Amino acid sequence: MSDPNAAKRAAAFAAADLVQDGTTIGLGSGSTFLFVLERLAARIKDGLKVQGVATSQATAAAARKAGVPLLELDAVERLDLAIDGADEVDPQKNLIKGGGGAHVRERIVAAAAKEMVVVVDEKKLVAVLGKAFLLPIEVLPFGWKQTERRIAATGCKPTLRQQDGKPFVTDNGNHVLDCKYDGIDDPAWLDEHLNALVGVVDHGLFVGMAGRVIVGDAAGKVRVIP
Ligand code: A5P
Repeated sequence: MSDPNAAKRAAAFAAADLVQDGTTIGLGSGSTFLFVLERLAARIKDGLKVQGVATSQATAAAARKAGVPLLELDAVERLDLAIDGADEVDPQKNLIKGGGGAHVRERIVAAAAKEMVVVVDEKKLVAVLGKAFLLPIEVLPFGWKQTERRIAATGCKPTLRQQDGKPFVTDNGNHVLDCKYDGIDDPAWLDEHLNALVGVVDHGLFVGMAGRVIVGDAAGKVRVIP
């Protein structure tokens, strides 16, 4: 039987192989990134020296298991590389992230890195962001319904993310509104506009942040969008 994770694994392993000895890297979040950790763990056993900054509590726990030494972001000036997954990637390499709710820290870590390398299954490539995937927006719990109205006025239908019958809480103690747009035609405009809204902490639209995008396919082959 073919491996259902072949595409994710191939992209993740190729990215992990870009990591150079003695470097400090950003550790993304999500199921694709776990394969990066799998490959890093093997390379560390073979002698690779690397340190990482985690983008979520889940990734920090997985990195500890994989034997990747962790640092606080504030202990470093720049990261040599950040590796992370994405939910959608458009032809300009703009991204939707945050399916796992870690996008605020993911953005801070990516911004601290010399390059953000994105690892995706080819199914994540889309012509226009936000036609299929909902855009996650992290909001302060205080007055979130007020914030929701302001967000809806940008042309979407927001839904409060739930977990176990309660509002989902991020690692930062906030809530997430998953927002249905009918396609995001101008990601740069929306990026700026959302960040200007009172009550919005940050959102999952990553505009102009991605460096190389490594795309895996079901046959386990990769191609790199430079
Ligand atoms: C986490 O909040 C996200 O930004 C993930 O990086 C993104 O959802 C990709 O996740 P998968 O690799 O699990 O698809």
